[in-house]
Amino acid sequence: MDSRTTMLALTALGAGAVTASLVKLKSRLRLSQAKHRSLTGHSRLSRRIAALIPFYDYDEARFFRCDNPPADVAAQREAGFGRLSALFGERYGETARLTAEIKNGISDLQFTDAYRVPFQFSRMVREHLQAGALVQSSSGVTVTDMDGNRFYDVTGSYGVNVFGYDFYKDCIARGVERVRDLGPVLGPYHPAIIYNVRRLKEISGLDEVSFHMSGTEAVMQAVRLARYHTRRSHLVRLCGAYHGWWGDVAPGVGNPVSARETYTLSDMSERTLRVLATRRDIACVLVNPLQALHPNSGAPADSALVDSARGAAFNKAAYAEWLKRLRAVCSERNIVLIFDEVFLGFRVAQGGAQEYFGVSADMVTYGKTLGGGLPVGVLCGRKELMRRFRDDRPVDVCFARGTFNSHPYVMAAMHEFLHRIETPEIRALYAGLDETWDRRTEALNGRLRQEGLPVRIANLSSIWTVCYTQPSRYNWMLQYYLRAEGLALSWVGTGRLIFSLNYTQADFDAVADRFVAAARAMRQDGWWWTDPAATNKSIRRRLLRETLAHRLGFG
Ligand SMILES: Cc1ncc(COP(=O)(O)O)c(C=O)c1O
Repeated sequence: MDSRTTMLALTALGAGAVTASLVKLKSRLRLSQAKHRSLTGHSRLSRRIAALIPFYDYDEARFFRCDNPPADVAAQREAGFGRLSALFGERYGETARLTAEIKNGISDLQFTDAYRVPFQFSRMVREHLQAGALVQSSSGVTVTDMDGNRFYDVTGSYGVNVFGYDFYKDCIARGVERVRDLGPVLGPYHPAIIYNVRRLKEISGLDEVSFHMSGTEAVMQAVRLARYHTRRSHLVRLCGAYHGWWGDVAPGVGNPVSARETYTLSDMSERTLRVLATRRDIACVLVNPLQALHPNSGAPADSALVDSARGAAFNKAAYAEWLKRLRAVCSERNIVLIFDEVFLGFRVAQGGAQEYFGVSADMVTYGKTLGGGLPVGVLCGRKELMRRFRDDRPVDVCFARGTFNSHPYVMAAMHEFLHRIETPEIRALYAGLDETWDRRTEALNGRLRQEGLPVRIANLSSIWTVCYTQPSRYNWMLQYYLRAEGLALSWVGTGRLIFSLNYTQADFDAVADRFVAAARAMRQDGWWWTDPAATNKSIRRRLLRETLAHRLGFG
């Protein structure tokens, strides 16, 4: 090769390298732009920042005065807190005593107990407002604690309780009866599975089913299969969405290692569609349709309620349109579209979120309620995606097993569940479901508005998020006033209230009365006093200063 040809070849190579770098850079830039602006969209950064935040908490004086209220307001708060604390002690004494006995031995309980309210307030609350974590029975829409107090249950048992506890007791009892002769034999199946597979295929509109022990496992299997069949590495999850606690779907705070093959992209965003349309390393997109209530935000919990910025609003048409567009780009690019219906599944429609939003996925995960009250995770998918081996590469398999998968008792309770949701009574429950819950929610919002209470409810069918309309540092206190009024909330407090569909209008009216009474009492006790100049931003700025001072040792 003469020197001229060499020069030309080198120039061409150089130009090629520059072009490749530019293309790569553009693709990176597109990816960065598709991340949500918030910290929820930046998992690595959020983990680094979390590691920098020092612990500190408020002493008794500061606990009531962190927003510098006038002296009479602080006194009102102190008196209110004292009353509430005395009432908790009297009413929930035995339940709290028994809970204290087990607390040191149950790490989960220690965690949930510590994270009910923003950490600065947590110690005082734990010392003075112990309601306990034990219940002895359930009936209708209520649960009863160890002191005999009956509460309206709005925990929804993490979403499992769609049809009322009696429904599940029945599914379990009949299920146990059905498999009594077989007992806990694993490996071979009880014939109850035959009906389950048929019904799940009908409901999902998909070809095959696999059974797992939890929603987390069903999601793991969906992602693993998507990676296996597409031979691509990355999963896309949408900002804020929960898909269980497996590391790859839970990057950021809460996961000690980086999820290197996960992209967390903005929900309902053109930029996300552009990334999906151009990248070649994306195996699947995971969608948790519950995010329609609060796109791009994590599951709302009162421990993060440091101000009143929490927002939620459900727009069914807009979310359905977004899902259609996601569907189109995934089909075009051979990306596996996975609907994670573990939570929302059977709550919004008999055919789940696919039917509710009118969009079909390639794979769907179910869980929670589907077990008829017992633990379960299910994956349904298209035949070619569910296959765990390749005909032409006998050793290249996609492994997934699990000792308790398809446990006869779970299969039998699921059989009851699937059978019963076909009955006219349950079909009738689904008819006009959204209208019922929208009307109920609006009625309560009307009352709150009329009384000038700074609280509003946003709902997606029977799922609620409580929002606050004026800046305050104390909104998390509402969960304790609600408890005192006889409403049982889960550990995330007012972030998520879940109603079972057997709530009658009379049950609902009782809850609404108690809700209003709790909000009134909270206002009466001065917690919602607010400095007219305060904004959510000024509250956050002040908190940042406080945190920095503690970090630097001046606090
Ligand atoms: C959408 C979604 N996916 C997965 C899971 C994980 O299910 P499990 O808790 O059964 O592992 C949950 C649990 O809340 C969920 O809401």
